[in-house]
Amino acid sequence: MSLSASPLDVSPVIPVVVIDDPAHAVALARALVAGGVAIIEVTLRTPRALDAVAAIAADVPEIALGVGSVLTAAHVDRALAAGADFLVSPGASPALLERLVAAPVPVLPGVATVSEVLTALDHGLTELKFFPAGPAGGPAYLAAIGGPVPQVRFCPTGGVTAGNLRDYLAVPGVAAVGGTWLTPKSLIEAEDWAGITALAAAAVAAA
Ligand code: 3PG
Repeated sequence: MSLSASPLDVSPVIPVVVIDDPAHAVALARALVAGGVAIIEVTLRTPRALDAVAAIAADVPEIALGVGSVLTAAHVDRALAAGADFLVSPGASPALLERLVAAPVPVLPGVATVSEVLTALDHGLTELKFFPAGPAGGPAYLAAIGGPVPQVRFCPTGGVTAGNLRDYLAVPGVAAVGGTWLTPKSLIEAEDWAGITALAAAAVAAA
């Protein structure tokens, strides 16, 4: 679907998914929607990730479809061609930022320092991924980064779990959290879609 709002306003939790087999993509997306999570970020970390994106775009139009691990301008082009509704990067080079701001969809470039936040603000971007959230310093560090830039909305990912998501959501400026805990590889490979629906519902309830 085309997003009428920010991806940070769709759900308080954003599943970051690694899909090896595109045949799993549609059932996985539907399982998340059934659990109340109408958003997904498919990472470009597997060879057939874009096939998974195209399948979800075709068959699950009710989900907000993000493409993550976007590292280059070429990735932006391929993600958009596959049907991405929004784009996520773990960090941002100057060239990638230029391409992201020109994209016709919302973008969440990754930052981990105040200087990186300021660079994103220079490009007019006020919605950012905070990555890698846990190793970078967790909720306390993010609260410190966000202090001087109250106009920024963050989505922390990297080490977020069901056990700590509320600590992140309590940080001013945090609009949503993301992570892979919602879609474990073991459940995907077992095609345990009910299990993923349960994890999604539990995450929304905990948020
Ligand atoms: C991301 O790309 O957002 C992170 O790698 C997700 O990290 P996690 O596996 O710790 O949730």
